[in-house]
Amino acid sequence: MYLQEKENSVLESDSSLLQNYKRYPIEFTHGKGVYLYDRNGDEYLDFLCGIAVTGFGHSHPVIKRAVDEQLASFWHVSNLFESSGQQILAEKLAGLSDLDKVFFCNSGTEANEAAIKFARKFGEKRTTIISAEGSFHGRTMGSLSASAQVKLWQGFQPLTPGFKYVPFNDAEAIRHSITEDVCAIMLEPIQGEGGIVVPSQEYLKEVEAICKENNLILILDEVQTGMGRTGKIFAHQWFDIAPDIITLAKGIANGFPLGAAIVSSKVADKIKPGDHGSTFGGNPVSIAAANVVVNLLTEESLINISNCGKELMNELQKINSYFIKEIRGLGLMIGIEFEEKVLNSNIVELLLGKKIVTYFAGRNTLRMLPPYIINRSHISQFIYSFKSVLNDIHLE
Ligand SMILES: Cc1ncc(COP(=O)(O)O)c(C=O)c1O
Repeated sequence: MYLQEKENSVLESDSSLLQNYKRYPIEFTHGKGVYLYDRNGDEYLDFLCGIAVTGFGHSHPVIKRAVDEQLASFWHVSNLFESSGQQILAEKLAGLSDLDKVFFCNSGTEANEAAIKFARKFGEKRTTIISAEGSFHGRTMGSLSASAQVKLWQGFQPLTPGFKYVPFNDAEAIRHSITEDVCAIMLEPIQGEGGIVVPSQEYLKEVEAICKENNLILILDEVQTGMGRTGKIFAHQWFDIAPDIITLAKGIANGFPLGAAIVSSKVADKIKPGDHGSTFGGNPVSIAAANVVVNLLTEESLINISNCGKELMNELQKINSYFIKEIRGLGLMIGIEFEEKVLNSNIVELLLGKKIVTYFAGRNTLRMLPPYIINRSHISQFIYSFKSVLNDIHLE
């Protein structure tokens, strides 16, 4: 009882938590499938999945069983010893990506840090990495330096040297930036945090060609787009390109912390014991969850993601609203860009009022990342609430 009261008072004042997050005043106490429940027992439709993480919904029974079994044996032994769980997952990821070897860490930013190091190891004297304006690769110094968004850098400079930035979806700009010191190009196949920006296939094909011509490593950050989110295991598979490194996290273990960098043999061949590591990386509990996630990503699940994504997009496109500028996305990664004037009316909060969880991305874009297990009725529920929110918008 005392603890409960204490917890309540702490939540009210947020007293000991560093104020680096702006939190909504809702605490979820449990979740099941596509729904979350708050302290009052109110039910919310989860169209965010903890920012592209819980693709197979909350409390998935098969994932829970695998995690429970792992918890019953051991939780951690370090990467000094063999891990058949890691080996099985690595084999699955290598097979799914047509790449060769896998490094496991704990998060997206760590996966990208690893990719940056591996690309530089490959490049030897060539150390510069080209990334795209509007990109987001993480918050630690290497991946922050790769993320070409000035607002993220403010207060944290100097950045790590060795990055060049070019406009996204502009292959010519990349061509013009190739100098002798460049070793890699690092891109999100679809920019997520940047506002759900889908580039053209020609662009990505051209980037692939530039990498081949110049012996550069193509790093695709699939932290948000990977593990089924767009209706294929990896988003780049829609564009028919072949990267040298793919980074993953978010959806890979349905909520347990895990990141991965999948690399080609030409990159892997340069890495030797001691070059990189992580105490917790590829911990057995997360690996157990991820091994189930990969098994759940069947053809049938991917088709559901694609079909539901198309249906949601179609339903959104039927809405005739003065406030909507553009609807973009692929699979269950969809953004609705609003007119500038809507900025302050905060659609996310209005939707929370209707018990729907979503979030913003980029400039004025509402981001939807629904679970892979949604069906028509959830789409109808969302559309119904979204339409009523559009009626509630008051311009300031
Ligand atoms: C494309 C991309 N890369 C990297 C990251 C960083 O991942 P993490 O927050 O797990 O470090 C994110 C997180 O939003 C992301 O969307």
